[in-house]
Amino acid sequence: MSAVPARHVPPPDVPPSEVAPSGADTAVPAVVPSPHPDTAPESCAARALAALEAARARTLGLVDCLDEAGLTAQHSPLMSPLAWDLAHIGNQEDLWLLRRAGGRPGVRPDLDPVYDAFLTPRADRPGLPMLPPAEARRYVAEVRAQALEVLEKAPSDAERLTRSAFVFGMIAQHEQQHDETMLATHQLRRGPAVLHAPPPPGVPDGTSLPPEVLVPGGPFTMGTDDDPWALDNERSAHRVDVPAFWLDTTPVTAGAYAVFIDDGGYDEPRWWHPDGWAHVRRTGLRAPLFWRREADGWTRRRFGRVEPVPLDSPVLHVSWYEADAYARWAGRRLPTEAEWEKAARHDPATGRSRRHPWGETDPGPEHANLGQRHLEPAPAGAYPLGEAPCGARQLLGDVWEWTASDFAPYPGFEAYPYREYSEVFFPTGSAGAGAGGSPDYKVLRGGSFGTAHVACRTTFRNWDHPVRRQIFAGFRTARAADTTAATAPATAARRPEGA
Ligand SMILES: [Fe+2]
Repeated sequence: MSAVPARHVPPPDVPPSEVAPSGADTAVPAVVPSPHPDTAPESCAARALAALEAARARTLGLVDCLDEAGLTAQHSPLMSPLAWDLAHIGNQEDLWLLRRAGGRPGVRPDLDPVYDAFLTPRADRPGLPMLPPAEARRYVAEVRAQALEVLEKAPSDAERLTRSAFVFGMIAQHEQQHDETMLATHQLRRGPAVLHAPPPPGVPDGTSLPPEVLVPGGPFTMGTDDDPWALDNERSAHRVDVPAFWLDTTPVTAGAYAVFIDDGGYDEPRWWHPDGWAHVRRTGLRAPLFWRREADGWTRRRFGRVEPVPLDSPVLHVSWYEADAYARWAGRRLPTEAEWEKAARHDPATGRSRRHPWGETDPGPEHANLGQRHLEPAPAGAYPLGEAPCGARQLLGDVWEWTASDFAPYPGFEAYPYREYSEVFFPTGSAGAGAGGSPDYKVLRGGSFGTAHVACRTTFRNWDHPVRRQIFAGFRTARAADTTAATAPATAARRPEGA
């Protein structure tokens, strides 16, 4: 999630979202509920405990590999010092689990101004009176010990904040979201490699996938009412009629993106959104972030290692502007948010929307590349068991996928439990049905290899500025089903063999 306060950006010249809110067409059937998740209090408490413990193990893994100087340094003005993230995680837990849910005085409420993300932009955080790393560790441990006491007391289902252990799930998601941000800081950091993980699985032998899959037209249920840990911007469930469209079977690969570069993609204004072209001219962009052209091909820097760019894997570290330009060059476009979600969860056999592309089962290592289990995306075409009903693969995990859509509230949106999670990122005056959409933030879907499964589902919405590239973002492209096949000159080279 972006923690950067909104700033004004001129409205982009892109087609409006194709989302048609429910109620616009009385022929659209009512929302079809998803299979109900297990919301028994003891099940929710057990899930909350496991999610909090998994998040903390990951957080400590991200800080224990660096010395004090590495934790207090600012590795990029786009990011906070890692020691700030660590204590901010504890401070949010102090506020929400101890004070709000537990009714306790809290461990260090005096630290709130230091760790309020909205008071101090990331670039200015090194000047804050932060806790030194050792003190930050003690602080988060003390908060956690008390938070588990609050959880043990079987929080009441009568209170909205604690019903189905919502606030515990929210704080586990918050910590994991910061862990992904901290992973991005590790990627920006200069110096020897300190993070290690096995490579992701490859594409099974004999795999032969079509380049695109058809998602039939018709209504589907977007968003959710019944996922107990869904955040406010994922609510409410509503019917959206999405015309038939073709979607790339997998995310666009680095090899396909390299063809765009070699075809002069960064030199040709007609492929670019006007704001994107101005950005390219101003910044001199020539390739994805961390790429470097060598005599014998592209290399990239990845968590302290320099290696050849794997051409058969999804392209990573591209901005929305770059994704949008590539799509136009390929004679296609980015999918809308509604198209992405329909492809990821609509089951034509039942008319229901699934929680995950493969069904209701929690993500396992066989389904998707999530949770920092690996430190890069898997090759395009991996994870056959994670396939969606439409045949698309890798919709969850690997890379966040930029969509064409601006970040805007769903019909009936209600900020909960605090405005600063979503509402302040919507365009002014837009809360409620029929909002236009923010030119400041584009929606990303699906999660990356650095996203934990507690913060990853087909309804989960992420957003960021269209220039951002340090996040683990790629994309896939789409076209309307009533158009002829794309005709751009290099389209045939968009995908390497077998991907
Ligand atoms: Fe935060």
